[in-house]
Amino acid sequence: MGSYAVTGGATGIGGAIVEALEAQGHDVIVVDVSPRDVVADLRTTEGREAGVAAIRARAPQGLEGFIPCAGIGGHFPRASDIVRLNFFGVVRMVEALEDLLLPGYGGIVLIASEAAFRKGFDADYLEALYAGDEAAACAVIDGMDPAAAGFTAYGGGKSGLVRWMRHRTASLAKRGLRINAIAPGYTVTKMTEETQQSAFAEALEKFVKSIPLGRMGLPEDMAHAVMYLLSERASFVTGSTLHVDGGHDAVKRPDRVA
Ligand SMILES: NC(=O)c1ccc[n+]([C@@H]2O[C@H](COP(=O)([O-])OP(=O)(O)OC[C@H]3O[C@@H](n4cnc5c(N)ncnc54)[C@H](O)[C@@H]3O)[C@@H](O)[C@H]2O)c1
Repeated sequence: MGSYAVTGGATGIGGAIVEALEAQGHDVIVVDVSPRDVVADLRTTEGREAGVAAIRARAPQGLEGFIPCAGIGGHFPRASDIVRLNFFGVVRMVEALEDLLLPGYGGIVLIASEAAFRKGFDADYLEALYAGDEAAACAVIDGMDPAAAGFTAYGGGKSGLVRWMRHRTASLAKRGLRINAIAPGYTVTKMTEETQQSAFAEALEKFVKSIPLGRMGLPEDMAHAVMYLLSERASFVTGSTLHVDGGHDAVKRPDRVA
């Protein structure tokens, strides 16, 4: 059985992924700010380094797969923390673990979001993400109107992540590694519970009503999709984003084909 590392695996979507991997008998290293296995705050360089060191110590023979799932929602009080965790906490961890990933196995699965496919994110923010400049990206977000900062940091960050994945697909493929993403729609987890109690509660209720399959996503729905992308059955799939959203992206953006 293989070794997998999952960030944000203490609860929610990450928790369901950990459960699915463990059910198949794999050793799963969980890095999370909440006590579960390896405790690390992936908003910070020190936390990322500690997470990487712990993963390397536990899987010196290499990893079959890496799923950087830790993330916080757009309602988080300091919006630049969303940038630090959801974008740079993912990109920096993948970069630091790339050489540990074993060619020909599951590879990397990112957790993007339906929010990545919206339009109108601040151009300076996206440029800073594309340049890999964490300080500049955080500065743009910190300088924004708080009402727009969370939306931009979250959706723009997830959009940046999908773009980054596509730019990395060829170089990883050369090493026999695949990288894919899922784009979850609204999913019942601690993150959305918190959002439901925030100023966005009313808008969210309307949003859920517009999901074509008529229900919210469950963490298990996301885990099933991740398990497919990690599996042998997806061995010719890389650079892809799988929407797991009850048809929401299709109904909201029917004309978007690329
Ligand atoms: N729930 C949704 O509707 C939804 C939709 C689209 C995408 N997502 C994405 O799915 C991922 C998981 O979200 P979720 O809904 O399961 O949320 P969640 O709050 O249930 O789980 C997030 C996990 O990340 C951990 N975490 C938080 N801050 C951290 C930090 N600084 N360092 C390390 N770990 C930290 C938490 O302890 C928790 O275990 C996120 O990347 C999120 O953006 C969620």
